Amino acid sequence: MPTIRDVSKLAGVSVATVSRVLNRSGYVHEETERKVLKAIKELNYTPNFVARSLTNKKTGTIGLMVPDITNPFFPELARAVEDVMQQYGYTTILGNSDENPQKEKQYIQLLKQKYIDGVILASTALTAEEVHTFKVPVVVLDRVVLSDNIPMVTSKNREGAREATRFLLEQGCRKIAHLRGPVQLRIADERCHGYLDVVEKLEWFHPGLIVASNYDMRQAMQATLELLKKHPDIDGIFAGNDIIAIGAMRAVQMLGISIPEEMAIIGYDGITMGEIVYPELTTMAQPIYEMGALAARMLIKMIEKQPLDTLYYELDVQLIERGTTRKG
Ligand code: RIB
Repeated sequence: MPTIRDVSKLAGVSVATVSRVLNRSGYVHEETERKVLKAIKELNYTPNFVARSLTNKKTGTIGLMVPDITNPFFPELARAVEDVMQQYGYTTILGNSDENPQKEKQYIQLLKQKYIDGVILASTALTAEEVHTFKVPVVVLDRVVLSDNIPMVTSKNREGAREATRFLLEQGCRKIAHLRGPVQLRIADERCHGYLDVVEKLEWFHPGLIVASNYDMRQAMQATLELLKKHPDIDGIFAGNDIIAIGAMRAVQMLGISIPEEMAIIGYDGITMGEIVYPELTTMAQPIYEMGALAARMLIKMIEKQPLDTLYYELDVQLIERGTTRKG
């Protein structure tokens, strides 16, 4: 197996120069770089990443932790992170915590023991103090952690929820329920506050119209069946995410209620699956790809010790009107 010395001999340069080319660090004359790359190719040389990481203290690997990889929102987010990381020569290791705080903590312990250059966290339960225990740069993505000094990318959850609820009112809905995400999950609370901002003062509102679910399709279906048994006059549902909305659609259809004529439904996220269900799902779309890509770029800057322009990004959401709300 060829070594870095073989490359340096063939290229007629020092081992340090070959190393500079491989690590893209320090100045190397264009012609010298060309010779090194040619020698690498001729010898079919593969750098020893373990040895390299011992010298430059970088592994070219980052950790990405998501709460539920079976929720299509997260593969779409992970795709963006991986695309950007790959462009910059980093490998992404994926961890999935199953929305389970205990499993999340175990994963964090594991990540800390790995040689990684940084972490992107979409966390169910981590506190700012726990995030600060990482020895490598961290960017929090999607699921906000309360702190003013942790780099974070999320979307305008409360505003988006307000807009979604208002939209249902404009559609003529007279009693709107909210199938929210897990209690005490900050973004789910934010979306719930957004709903309340719009309906709390209306005469038909009462707290029984808010039902917590676990960002789980089956659970949302069950919750909707029970909710509609208690309140058959509900004619609009604002779901805390698209998965919940799809579960609710199924329940509504099982009860023979027509969408959107008798029941309007709006989700939150903008996952691709929303375009495949029937009727197609109206949703408050987050810029999923942009969020992932931005978090990845921030992390790379932090790893490479460049300054960040802003620590906290709250991106705009966008209403996408489709079949579950169009009337007439
Ligand atoms: O679909 C999963 C939900 O959890 C999304 O709305 C996203 O914001 C995440 O945190």
